[in-house]
This record gives sequence, structure tokens and C-alpha cells, in this order.
Amino acid sequence: MLWGSMAHLIESRTNRPSDDPIFALNREASARRARGEAIVNATVGALLDDDGKLVVLPSSARAVREVSEEEWAAYAPIAGTPGFLAAVIDDLFAGSPELKASACAVATPGGSGALRHAIASYLEPGQKLLTTNYYWGPYLTLVDEADRKLETFEMFDAEGKLDTGALDRAVDRQLSEQGRVLLFLNDPCHNPTGYSMRTDEWRAVVAVLDRHASRGSVSLLVDMAYFAYGSGEPRAFMQELLPLLGKAALLFAWSASKTFTHYGLRVGALVACEPDPTERARTEAALSYACRGTWSNCNRGGLAAITRLLVDEALASSCTRERDAVRAVLSARVSAFNAAAKGRLAYPRYEGGFFVTVFFQDALERACRMKERGVFVVPVKGALRVALCSVAERDVPRLVDALAESP
Ligand SMILES: Cc1ncc(COP(=O)(O)O)c(C=O)c1O
Repeated sequence: MLWGSMAHLIESRTNRPSDDPIFALNREASARRARGEAIVNATVGALLDDDGKLVVLPSSARAVREVSEEEWAAYAPIAGTPGFLAAVIDDLFAGSPELKASACAVATPGGSGALRHAIASYLEPGQKLLTTNYYWGPYLTLVDEADRKLETFEMFDAEGKLDTGALDRAVDRQLSEQGRVLLFLNDPCHNPTGYSMRTDEWRAVVAVLDRHASRGSVSLLVDMAYFAYGSGEPRAFMQELLPLLGKAALLFAWSASKTFTHYGLRVGALVACEPDPTERARTEAALSYACRGTWSNCNRGGLAAITRLLVDEALASSCTRERDAVRAVLSARVSAFNAAAKGRLAYPRYEGGFFVTVFFQDALERACRMKERGVFVVPVKGALRVALCSVAERDVPRLVDALAESP
């Protein structure tokens, strides 16, 4: 019998890339380091300490350790345990009673699961998700896998602020073409640019969506993967969203991965705000059905650990203290980067977070030349993504020299 003579995969799945490019770069960097080279690896999307070890908040680890065998072994309810969902809603809307009163949620495997459900539930097959022209690569994978498409708008205007004029034009076009808009905004600490929007930018986004919301269905998803690492009050923008409540779908992709340094626990949630009770019940049913139709239910032990981290006051405050210490390490790296890069590199306002993006026309070639010098970064279209979350402060000057191609 002749193996391989017949293709069994459906046409659209026959040419999928076999490796995630970021993981491949990371593997190469690790292999060279293991051979004794002094490597600066700015590709890893996780917080590493100055010795290159994964940062694990001790209180998070304790909460995970103290989950009982029964919790790990049992199924969770399809939509997630009620205690977990309530804790996430409380966490998000501590200062926004209007949003809290209209919220429903489902547990998802990380923020990724929340993004997946939003794409499948708020866009028809073939329709286009809208996001900024710099975006986290898996947004494309997620829409591709769900047989949807992706469209972007220019993220920055001439002053380096969020280009709400470009957003306005894109929303207008999409409403004319497909009658609905699902907009993903990753804020604060946008991956990959590091950008965090200010209040006036949020206001401008809301004004754009408000203006168009009567023409078709408008949904805004805030991807909050990094919200525990911003430099300002992370929930301040919520108040700005209130004019949209009831006019647009307000969605939040909540993730425990970065907030509690447990990326592999796969705990997240999709939260939706719908003030109309009938619409809210419909939304809840649709999202719960989507859980059953994809991963069935999330890991109950993980939900239990994260619930405790959110509601047990003593544990939550020790976790916050530990995270603050880690944030200070990250913030020192950000300051070192800004000090070394100002005037030498072009990049967006960078005040904190895991990544920054430096603009280059020759991004791909430059990344290759940098690799030869032992410095690894991730090329994206027209830019290089630099993961300061994985680079020690002492290595930042060498990293910036390599980016600037100084000798
Ligand atoms: C922008 C962004 N959104 C969402 C996620 C989702 O992560 P997870 O599925 O681990 O919660 C990530 C993780 O890297 C991210 O960078």
C-alpha cells in the first residue's frame, strides 16, 4: 500500500504552518545558550527573573498547591463554577456598579478561550474581526481557525496616539460591508507595542463606537491579558464605557495567566455586559453552549485556586504585594530601556508592561543580524517586538545597542 498518496485533510487545513514562530525562535535561543553563548532572549512572553527563571508568585503557587484532590479530579460546570464567575465579575467591576449589574460570564481556558468565543459568537462565518495594525499574532490564528477573517486599522496617528480617525473609517466601512463590527482592543500594555491608552483616547474610541452603534451591531472586546501590569489604575477606563452600555456589546477577555503568573493553568473568562435581562440570558446561553461545543468545561482545580486568590483577602493581598515587587523589577527594565533608547530608536510611548515594539522597515533582516550577535527579538510587520519581561535590566543596554546596530 502506498502511504501518503491521498490527502485526507480538508483543503483549507492543508497548508497550516507547523510551528509557532515565536516558540521556534525561543527554542533556538535556548539551544545556543545551552551551548555556552551569552544570549539575550527577548522573545519569551512570560515574566522571567534576572537569572532567566520563570517568575512564580509564591501566593499563587500556594493557592494551586492547596486545592484538594477532589477539586482537581471533578468536572467543573460547563460555564465554570459560580464562585469563580462571581469573583471575576467583582474583580473587573469593583468601581462600576452599572457594568456589574449587567454582566454575565463563562470560564474559558485562558484569555485565548475568551477571544475564541467572542469571534465565534459575534461574527458570522467569513466576516472580519477588526483590530489595530499591530496585534498579537494569535488573533489571526483564532479567526482563521474559526473561518473568520481579520482587518486592521492604523494604530498610531502622526502624534503617536491611537488613531481614532482610522478606527472611525474602519468601523464605518465594516458596518456598510458586513453590518456588524467586532473590535478587539488590547489595553493596557498592548502586545506587541507596549502602548497603554489614556483616558482621552478611551473617550474618543467610545465616541466613535457610539456614533456608529445605531447603524448595525457593534461589539467591543477589551483584551485585558496584561491589566495587572499597567502603570495607571487599570479599571479607570471602565467608567468611560458607560455610554455604550446597552447600545454596543461590551466584552472583556479576562485572564489569570499573567495576573497570577500561572500561564499553564489555563484559567480565564469571557465577561459580557448586557443590561437587558432577556438579551443577557440569551448571551449567557450562547456562551455556555459554545463552551460545551469546544472544550466542554475548564479545569475545576484551576478555577478553585484562582477563585481563592480573588476572594480570600489575606491571600489576595499577599499576592498583590508579591506582584508589586515583580512589577518594580519590570518597571526598572522599562526605565533602563527608555534611558538607552530615547533618541536612538523609534517606538511608541512605553510606560510599562511585558513588551515594546521598535519600528523598522527592515525588521526581518535586522532580526536575523541581531541573532548573529546573540540577541533574539520577534519580527512583526514593520517592527521588532522586544519582550522586556524576559530580559534582565543589566542586559538592556546590550539589547538596545543591537536594536540600534551600534558596534
Ligand atoms: C494580547 C494577548 N491576549 C491574550 C493572551 C491570552 O493568554 P492566555 O490564553 O494564556 O490567557 C495573551 C497571551 O500571551 C496576549 O498576549
